Amino acid sequence: MAIKYSQTVIEHFTNPQNVGEIEDADATATEGSPACGDMLTFTLRVNPETHIIDDVRFRSYGCASNISTASMATVLAKGKTIEEVKHFNAKIVAEKLGGLPSTKMHCSVLAVNGLKAAIKQWEISQGLAEEEAIQCNEDTIKKLLKSVINPHTGKSIISSEMVSYIKVDGAKVFVEVNLGDTDEMYAENIREEVTETIESMKCVDEIIVRILDREKFELKNGENNNGE
Ligand code: FES
Repeated sequence: MAIKYSQTVIEHFTNPQNVGEIEDADATATEGSPACGDMLTFTLRVNPETHIIDDVRFRSYGCASNISTASMATVLAKGKTIEEVKHFNAKIVAEKLGGLPSTKMHCSVLAVNGLKAAIKQWEISQGLAEEEAIQCNEDTIKKLLKSVINPHTGKSIISSEMVSYIKVDGAKVFVEVNLGDTDEMYAENIREEVTETIESMKCVDEIIVRILDREKFELKNGENNNGE
């Protein structure tokens, strides 16, 4: 089935704003999506007195939605303070684009996370924030999993309370996901995205993702609810 994009998404894809790289940028960050392998790099110029983003550019190594959401995120961020931009989220950017297909919501998450990562780098360079030492615990996993989007609803699997259990036992992580009324055709997509997101943590050796259907039966890798 062909994916339907809004007119604004198409406009930002065919004529993206703020593309490129700022020379001698004040901050740079690259973020990748575990879901598809696409990447975005943001560069920033920030006024140290006012904290206003004077310039922001991006380079995309990804899909049409990746380009459109990054373009819209830069348009929204330019001229705003870093404090204002820290309140951006994927939903705001997607809404400004006239919506995104649910299977493409993670592209918007990637754009916002990339922009915020560049802001964090700027704050670190100014002594306003510190590099976070990544703790291998349930809270960190939960935070990471916020970027995993349920393609059926376009919402994070954390905010839609699909993750019922997270356990970290040394280098082993166990995650349980409830599909509820979600179409099971996305079970493997969610399993893969959860696994790849957690794999980004160096402290993890083994990841077990248990996917339950709406009847609470476990869906094994590659199976549907008929056990096929
Ligand atoms: Fe990967 Fe869009 S499909 S960012």
